[in-house]
Amino acid sequence: MQAIASSISRHLIEQCDSSRNQCFHPSSRNSVIIITTAFHKTALPGVLLHSISCKGLLSKPTLSAVKFQNRSSSWPISSSVVVGSKMVKAIRVHELGGPEVLKWEDVEIGEPNDGFTRLLRSPFTPGMEAVGVVTAVGPGLTGRKVGDLVAYAGNPMGAYAEEQILPADKVVPVPPSIDPIIAASVMLKGMTAQFLVRQCFKVEPGHTVLIHAAAGGVGSLLCQWANALGATVIGTVSTKEKAAQAKEDGCHHVILYKEEDFVTRVNEITSGKGVEVVYDSVGKDTFEGSLTCLKLRGYMVSFGQSSGTPDPVPLSALAAKSLFLTRPSLMHYTITRDELLQTASEVFTNLAAGVLRVRVNHTYPLSQAAQAHADLENRKTSGSVVLLPDGN
Ligand SMILES: NC(=O)c1ccc[n+]([C@@H]2O[C@H](COP(=O)([O-])OP(=O)(O)OC[C@H]3O[C@@H](n4cnc5c(N)ncnc54)[C@H](OP(=O)(O)O)[C@@H]3O)[C@@H](O)[C@H]2O)c1
Repeated sequence: MQAIASSISRHLIEQCDSSRNQCFHPSSRNSVIIITTAFHKTALPGVLLHSISCKGLLSKPTLSAVKFQNRSSSWPISSSVVVGSKMVKAIRVHELGGPEVLKWEDVEIGEPNDGFTRLLRSPFTPGMEAVGVVTAVGPGLTGRKVGDLVAYAGNPMGAYAEEQILPADKVVPVPPSIDPIIAASVMLKGMTAQFLVRQCFKVEPGHTVLIHAAAGGVGSLLCQWANALGATVIGTVSTKEKAAQAKEDGCHHVILYKEEDFVTRVNEITSGKGVEVVYDSVGKDTFEGSLTCLKLRGYMVSFGQSSGTPDPVPLSALAAKSLFLTRPSLMHYTITRDELLQTASEVFTNLAAGVLRVRVNHTYPLSQAAQAHADLENRKTSGSVVLLPDGN
């Protein structure tokens, strides 16, 4: 699981890197606070003025906290403009290290107000994905109300806390048909799968698609979604156990890419025609072979680099088959409010319809985030890991 954690870390760093000029800049006047207290507890109306507040769940502990701080040393360090003095519990990271640096502490969250500013501070609170119940709304805010179940994924960071201030336009409603724990586990991965198969390259019946790391978090959802869209799905995985999971998730052909040459196998499976698209999150180890697997005018969608950054590609490598190459990011496909709502809504609709299934195999109290990270690092977990508010 060390490898998985590493890949997640890289991803979160990418996200933060590309957004460092956005996520801590002055936010809109309509803000959200996520309170990660128990779902059954009474909300706190009136405590948090000029804000939406939620109580909820946090998901996907990663080792990214450590790496964030590593990167953040060159970031602007500044005091937030804090209004009020509300104290909440949160995971805080003060120094580089292993899971033990994730400390459960009291922090002042303050109250957002018009034009508030929040800058990355050291110590900081990690986490970029959460679900919660709205407990207060800011002035002039329409479309959300106290009691709504909402979710977010991406920026801003700070989800490992009992409360979190978020811009209202970053949260999406979670339909009542969706279990909050499932929603918490699927936001980032599900929206990533959505933009990849429905926007970046639109998968259609009759297509043959190659999905690397088919049993990974995103890979598993990609296989399910591409299968549901009518494609022939070829997946690569490292072990027989993962192969069984990939089959369950709709892969018609599974390649054990540590034992078999996946280029040769794809060639056999497609009778030499190649595939319309490769969704490649593995990067360095697979990139070149992925290009070879494409048919004429095929799409190379390189959306991650779990094995490292691919080597530079000469244009001539694309010219040989008039290939398309893209290195997309979820953030760039959910820029507008409409795009975000549409992306999330398709994920929830497919979850509710049973088209998408997620495996939430572990939950931990939020205060035990360090243990969750340690277990992740020591390969003791599988599937999604969700941090629950303490007391649940
Ligand atoms: N572009 C975007 O917007 C976006 C959004 C979300 C995620 N991502 C990226 O997508 C990738 C997958 O995310 P995820 O959440 O699905 O991750 P994950 O669940 O951790 O899956 C990653 C899988 O990659 C495979 N892998 C191959 N070589 C590896 C290596 N050297 N180290 C670690 N894993 C290796 C492993 O599967 P096998 O054991 O079967 O090889 C592993 O299970 C990440 O790189 C992430 O950064 C990108």
